[in-house]
Amino acid sequence: MKLTGSDLAETPDGSSRAPLRPLEVAIVLPTYNERRNIATMVERIDRELQGIAWEAIYVDDNSPDGTSDEVRMIAQANPRVRCIQRIGRRGLASAAIEGMCSTSAPYVAVMDADHQHDPALLVGMLAALRSGDYDLAYASRFAEGASTEAWGRPDRVKVSGLANKIANKVTGVELTDPMSGFFMLPTETLRKDAHRLSGVGFKILLDILATSETRLRVKEFPLNFAARAEGESKLDQTVVFEFLVGLYDKWLGRIIPTRFALFGTVGAMGVVVQFAALWLVLSVILGERFVYGHWETGRLTFMTANTIAAAVAMTFNFVLNNELTYSDKRLRGFGPLLKGWAQFAITCSLGLLANVGAAYVLKNIGVHDVLAVMTGIVLAAVFNFALSSKFVWGK
Ligand code: GDD
Ligand code: MN
Repeated sequence: MKLTGSDLAETPDGSSRAPLRPLEVAIVLPTYNERRNIATMVERIDRELQGIAWEAIYVDDNSPDGTSDEVRMIAQANPRVRCIQRIGRRGLASAAIEGMCSTSAPYVAVMDADHQHDPALLVGMLAALRSGDYDLAYASRFAEGASTEAWGRPDRVKVSGLANKIANKVTGVELTDPMSGFFMLPTETLRKDAHRLSGVGFKILLDILATSETRLRVKEFPLNFAARAEGESKLDQTVVFEFLVGLYDKWLGRIIPTRFALFGTVGAMGVVVQFAALWLVLSVILGERFVYGHWETGRLTFMTANTIAAAVAMTFNFVLNNELTYSDKRLRGFGPLLKGWAQFAITCSLGLLANVGAAYVLKNIGVHDVLAVMTGIVLAAVFNFALSSKFVWGK
């Protein structure tokens, strides 16, 4: 790593010290399992930002592949590189926000660490902001002159097109690529609104634009969205889902937290699944007749069928919560999935106890039946959510 003479100051004992020139720009790079992309990216940034006092802040969510160790090793040789290692946390948006808040540089950029974003754009972005004509600069995969051939998923491009239309309505700013993860703005602008950003999902740029009280003047840079250098993508292909979740979070997330709303919705779907499974077992498989709202079947058969149905519904809830509610902490692989499923089963059983227990107590003190049952359900939902968040998807 080359530090030029003007960057370095000599201490009395002759050893070199960190750059004394005031920082001009920080580049925040959120990472999850990007160990093999660190050294090459630092080299590229260094090459592109010659003559500019920059720092690169890697925000790593304790990646199992040792990304943090790699960043620290490189930082040993180059004090412009920093590492924020977050323990027990996951999420691109919150990593980006924390990284941006941690710099003293007047301008801050966020970009992907996997070489899909070209650091050559940074100089132009900085110049656009410094000119005073723009409040935010970002790289668009869909602007004139941009390309996304390396994407490999043409349907995802189309889906983003739809999200873009809604996004324009929300922010009032014409953007060709509001889901972009590559942008730069004055750090002060970010800091003013940081406490109101949601940190959920991946639409941080959109969030910044929608949150700002004044309409930001945006400069677009066409991006050649390159292929990922090493490793694999961690983000979902479900851009529209992410996007809708983001909108919900912005508008109602303060009243009913987004994750709990998702958890509750999945739970309600589980109720439908349980009825469907029960009907499948009793009516379709066993051929029992359904008369006047009940099955003409023995109690034991009904109990057994309903136990199976409940297990099916619970498994359905587990899978859906893993895919959607906790997509940012998704359990993968047979072992973790099985363990998570078992923990979820235990959680649900305890929740059920809380559910019927509360209803029983309330009914005994004279509360109306329906209200007692409803209270039991809400209590169980909160209980299940708290336990699941902590124990099943806790890490
Ligand atoms: N700290 C942290 N925590 N970083 C993460 C996490 C996380 O949970 N998940 C992903 N990242 C990092 C990756 O290591 C990478 O540097 C960057 O965020 C982008 O993640 P990818 O997994 O490479 O995403 P992608 O290429 O599929 O998604 C692209 O499109 C999105 C919108 O469609 C990126 O450009 C995103 O920035 C963009 O929002
Ligand atoms: Mn990527």
